[in-house]
Amino acid sequence: YNAQAASALREERKQNGDEEYADLDWDNLGFALTPADYMYVMKCSKDGEFTKGEISPFGNIQLSPSAGVLNYGQAIYEGTKAYRKENGKLLLFRPDHNAMRMKIGAERMLMPSPSVDQFVDAVKQIAFANKRWVPPSGKGSLYIRPLLMGSGPVLGLGPAPEYTFIVYASPVGNYFKEGTAALNLYVEDEYVRAAPGGAGGVKSITNYAPVLKALSRAKSRGFSDVLYLDSVKKKYLEEASSCNVFVVKGRTISTPATNGTILEGITRKSVMEIANDQGYQVVEKAVHVDDVMDADEVFCTGTAVVVAPVGTITYQNKRVEYKTGDESVCKKLRSVLVGIQTGQIEDTKGWVTDI
Ligand code: COI
Repeated sequence: YNAQAASALREERKQNGDEEYADLDWDNLGFALTPADYMYVMKCSKDGEFTKGEISPFGNIQLSPSAGVLNYGQAIYEGTKAYRKENGKLLLFRPDHNAMRMKIGAERMLMPSPSVDQFVDAVKQIAFANKRWVPPSGKGSLYIRPLLMGSGPVLGLGPAPEYTFIVYASPVGNYFKEGTAALNLYVEDEYVRAAPGGAGGVKSITNYAPVLKALSRAKSRGFSDVLYLDSVKKKYLEEASSCNVFVVKGRTISTPATNGTILEGITRKSVMEIANDQGYQVVEKAVHVDDVMDADEVFCTGTAVVVAPVGTITYQNKRVEYKTGDESVCKKLRSVLVGIQTGQIEDTKGWVTDI
């Protein structure tokens, strides 16, 4: 952590009178990169040990053209958010769960990973160092992106000889251009996202480029995102390109069971717990596409997406509409989750950490 550089920068900002907030249009944040001042970099040597990381100004990194990540996709990432409380403090939401998920993902991708403490410490440092990029309370959040990659050179297929852990951040608002309005989803029945035994259950970077074609095709037809089906029967719901999915019928809320092809979302499990607390019956199971078409409500969850209502789903030329709005289950669950994340509802679960 370059404390001298950081404090010199803070001093300069104070003199310019712009210490508290970066110069940004806080009312119109979407989900695009506006790099915050600092990033965190920590390297791991051949013996698999991550040594002390450092904060440096956000900028390009140097990689060999034969880096493992560039040639064979050996990398995983995380996403977490810092919110600004009304009293000015910053809140982090379950960063230890991102750390644990990174460890599991690293194991799957044959990579060493930072310890939970190293991970959480890096996230805290990045949130704090970039405080002026954390939107005012109620206007969005600082999206924090931890990235673990095989940075060492390889030629033949194999694990990289060196790994780099990077954390950078960007202020964000709503993920979808729809804002908090209902999404229109398209059930993809040609391309699949993940197959049993693959890496669909971890946040490997290799789960994202392959969905771009289906996603862009759906977007060009006016849809917000794509829902993928299982790769074997092509009948059971998996997840969307960027988030998990829930289906509501009466007082029962179902979500596809994670069996290695579906990402174990931290928002997913938090929403399941909140729904349970509210007396809904929460079920993880194989969710048949016909049941989705017959549901009362559908909504999506994710760190970036938060909890997003789905207004319509289109599957094989059939379009179904769902309940959305103030009386919806989605809206209720979203407001409890966001309330906890932003410090407006007391956290009785130990989910938020203030820094
Ligand atoms: C997140 O929700 O943090 C994700 O990683 C999804 C990504 C497509 C933005």
